[in-house]
Amino acid sequence: MNTMLFSPYTIGGLTLKNRIVMSPMCMYSCETKDGTVRTWHKIHYPARAVGQVGLIIVEATSVTPQGRISERDLGIWSDDHIAGLRELVGLVKEQGAAIGIQLAHAGRKAEVPGEIIAPSAIPFQESSRTPKEMTKTDIEETVQAFQNGARRAKEAGFDVIEIHAAHGYLINEFLSPLANRRQDEYGGSPENRYRFLGEVIEAVREVWDGPLFVRISASDYHPDGLTASDYVPYAKRMKEQGVDLIDVSSGAVVPARIDVYPGYQVPFAELIRREANIPTGAVGLITSGWQAEEVLRNGRADLVFLGRELLRNPYWPYAAARELGVSIEAPVQYERGWRF
Ligand SMILES: Cc1cc2nc3c(=O)[nH]c(=O)nc-3n(C[C@H](O)[C@H](O)[C@H](O)COP(=O)(O)O)c2cc1C
Repeated sequence: MNTMLFSPYTIGGLTLKNRIVMSPMCMYSCETKDGTVRTWHKIHYPARAVGQVGLIIVEATSVTPQGRISERDLGIWSDDHIAGLRELVGLVKEQGAAIGIQLAHAGRKAEVPGEIIAPSAIPFQESSRTPKEMTKTDIEETVQAFQNGARRAKEAGFDVIEIHAAHGYLINEFLSPLANRRQDEYGGSPENRYRFLGEVIEAVREVWDGPLFVRISASDYHPDGLTASDYVPYAKRMKEQGVDLIDVSSGAVVPARIDVYPGYQVPFAELIRREANIPTGAVGLITSGWQAEEVLRNGRADLVFLGRELLRNPYWPYAAARELGVSIEAPVQYERGWRF
């Protein structure tokens, strides 16, 4: 049978062998606290490549030390990070997968010692630290840090860059009126709240001509927050700026109760794909082959991102192929596992 899940997909000049993407997931495994790639990363990511995932997106990797969620995050703020990342890229590519990296800054959700920064001096919740409101200089330096990160990602050999603009981290804080109360040109109107992301995309595009994804939180789940419809004009802007795909997640700008069920974020990916006419990735409780195939076949998204299912089963693509009646190549070392 011809499935969409196991058919190749070309984006921004890169051809993926299938439409299965490993969603970025923090491993908090840099025990040296200096942002460098450790043994854990060199086992964890290549295992999913052996599992036949088409594109692996490495976890949120911080463009500044201050932008880390925790001290154990991966980093890309220094040229010293390039060698480890290059090794990781080589290991994953050797096993036949493409590899991307998520460039991130945690903003007010950073849990590292020292000052934390955000568009406005509003804590995430009462128990959180109050961030410093970013000055124009802070903004310029952070945009530059994203560009430096992109340049290093290119030097390390990544195939894809994803900008993390979701989950209530720095860029998302600029976009959402719930976290951005600025009075200057970076706050207020929707255009002004987009300005920071627009500058980050422009800066990244100056040094990166490969596939560029942006992950968004398409709903703040709050009456005064952003909805998926608010992201349609933003997605159009991103497309104009040369973004190839919007990876559509949701939530976490403010604490909120989210009603989750299989494919709960898929309608957001579908809306943005249709209304902004841009490729999207769907993510969130996608766990079976037929469920993934449905999303693709009904034109609801172009790629399916899997998170926790790939933590449970690094070889999920084999299970999905069996479910869909497709035979996919196994590494030669494992062929005996398929013969009885
Ligand atoms: C352990 C863990 C770490 C995560 N870290 C990140 C991250 O670094 N960046 C990100 O955008 N999302 C992160 N997420 C969210 C996942 O990428 C994904 O969007 C979410 O888990 C929903 O998909 P799922 O139901 O397939 O797990 C993380 C999720 C988990 C479970």
